[in-house]
Amino acid sequence: MTALTLTNVNKSFGNVHVLKDITLEVEEGEFVVFVGPSGCGKSTLLRVIAGLEDASSGEINIGGQQVNLVPPSKRGIAMVFQSYALYPHLNVRGNMTLALKQEKQPKAVIEERVAKASRMLNLEDYLDRYPSELSGGQRQRVAIGRAIVREPKLFLFDEPLSNLDAALRMNTRIEIANLHRALDASMIYVTHDQTEAMTLADKIVVLRDGRVEQIGTPMELYNNPANQFVAGFLGSPSMNFLPEDLLGDGENTIGIRPEDLFLSDDGPLAAQVSHVEKLGGDTNVIAKVQDHAVTARLFGQHAIAEGQELRFAFSADKAYRFDPAGQRLR
Ligand SMILES: Nc1ncnc2c1ncn2[C@@H]1O[C@H](COP(=O)(O)OP(=O)(O)OP(=O)(O)O)[C@@H](O)[C@H]1O
Ligand SMILES: [Mg+2]
Repeated sequence: MTALTLTNVNKSFGNVHVLKDITLEVEEGEFVVFVGPSGCGKSTLLRVIAGLEDASSGEINIGGQQVNLVPPSKRGIAMVFQSYALYPHLNVRGNMTLALKQEKQPKAVIEERVAKASRMLNLEDYLDRYPSELSGGQRQRVAIGRAIVREPKLFLFDEPLSNLDAALRMNTRIEIANLHRALDASMIYVTHDQTEAMTLADKIVVLRDGRVEQIGTPMELYNNPANQFVAGFLGSPSMNFLPEDLLGDGENTIGIRPEDLFLSDDGPLAAQVSHVEKLGGDTNVIAKVQDHAVTARLFGQHAIAEGQELRFAFSADKAYRFDPAGQRLR
């Protein structure tokens, strides 16, 4: 059974049309990531699913039930917000139990669920502490704990790691993946971070300006982007785009991923190196091909210096072509 089905969902604030004909499905147990540029409607879409905003039109179906008129607390959903806003006057236990008390759950049930969630999240030693006495990562785990104890059918995460530093993000990312396995619940996760998107998702939904651009597994989107926007959005460093006439004739755009460029004395792309990033395992070479910036990701270490003239080649089967409107040409 599908956990969530959205059918032609639209949302306008006054005359601002924010969500445009969104249609998508989340399967039972699936981890779905929403990505897209700032302002494309990711948070609004989560809020519409949660019932914190009404859809202007379209249908929202959760676990087989149409929920457009069902209030948020009855949708079987728990949401973890970017600004996780713990209650400062309640300790960790108090933060985790508040919603359950409001639901008038029996005391034994509350205790059991808090014990289970705090064990999963390594919060057992912190139950009596107040939010001001916790690190950022611990606070984030409490926010997730508040969601877990409600035992929702569907979790909604809105950029939950954006307040954490890089190392903590990576740890918490792995914890969230483990949590997903342990809970066996459906999750929708919004992020700007494409490493998070690629590593966590069973399925990625790429949004742009309130519309779905493409839906697929991370590798489907990476290997088979439907258009130039998706091609450029997923992958880091991002795909290089060059005008076709640079390589011959035509008005289309050629796309080549940085890892698909290699050094070759008779390669078709004459480049002047403008910057080198030596990462140890890889070397990123940022160069100019005529007026166009190109990034090549070379495996291993290379003695390449700024200002150097190089030639790059790529194999034809690694090149993508896009028409002037940005649609992929096969
Ligand atoms: N209550 C509101 N009234 C009017 N416009 C709104 C309202 N809420 C959001 N918007 C507009 O809707 C658009 C989408 O906003 P939303 O917060 O969903 O974007 P987002 O994809 O989550 O962006 P970010 O990545 O920056 O969090 C924006 O243009 C925003 O200004
Ligand atoms: Mg947002």
